[in-house]
Amino acid sequence: MKFDILTLFPAMFEGPLTESIIRRAAEKELVDIRVHNIRDYATDRHQVVDDAPYGGGDGMVMKVEPLAACIEAVKRERPAARVILTTPRGRTFKHEVARELSREAELILICGRYEGVDERVRELFVDDELSIGDFVLTGGELAAMVMVDAIVRFIPGVLGSAGSVETDSFADGLLEYPQYTRPAEFRGLRVPDVLLSGNHAEVSRWRRCKSLEKTRIERPDLLVEQVVTPSDRAYLAE
Ligand code: ADE
Repeated sequence: MKFDILTLFPAMFEGPLTESIIRRAAEKELVDIRVHNIRDYATDRHQVVDDAPYGGGDGMVMKVEPLAACIEAVKRERPAARVILTTPRGRTFKHEVARELSREAELILICGRYEGVDERVRELFVDDELSIGDFVLTGGELAAMVMVDAIVRFIPGVLGSAGSVETDSFADGLLEYPQYTRPAEFRGLRVPDVLLSGNHAEVSRWRRCKSLEKTRIERPDLLVEQVVTPSDRAYLAE
């Protein structure tokens, strides 16, 4: 899968997307991440990329011309790419959105900055506006990194153990159950006996109950019709 990230701060991407699982995915040629500096596409002498908003108000707005030139240059190589703008004004990026985007062959991520991006960029080029949550970052770069990381996990072959994305929090609509590894006891805290029992059916039941319990406490909004089974309902009623 090919990612093209358009940003005014390319140096921000030098660390996070070149480590660990993403680095190995790139080495295996499962992902190819390129970062483009929008400023390189500003044609005036001072390479201006922002300007004051029409109508007045605080802050600056990202200009349309350098962004248009940058997007068009990238699109010449990636004509079928879906174009995403990172912005707190977008729909919320969730597990299902990450899964859906992982099926694309090419993605272009535009990192918004300042008070926003000239609306004509959206009108001309943007397929999707995505936010990573109801808070405002200083720019879309961290949001783009979060999205790339979450999307890459869904690409077959990226995660070591094939089952991992299936048992993630959110994969079944619930938060994930607690995990333990050796030792069986640490500072008086014992790993629950059921996990040492070898009884897979019991382990599954215990995990489902713990997922429900955690979800009920932390994210009751997730306990909707589609994810709660009749046996869950009996458990939740206890
Ligand atoms: N840029 C600024 N805040 C953002 C957010 N919450 N999500 C995506 N992009 C952003």
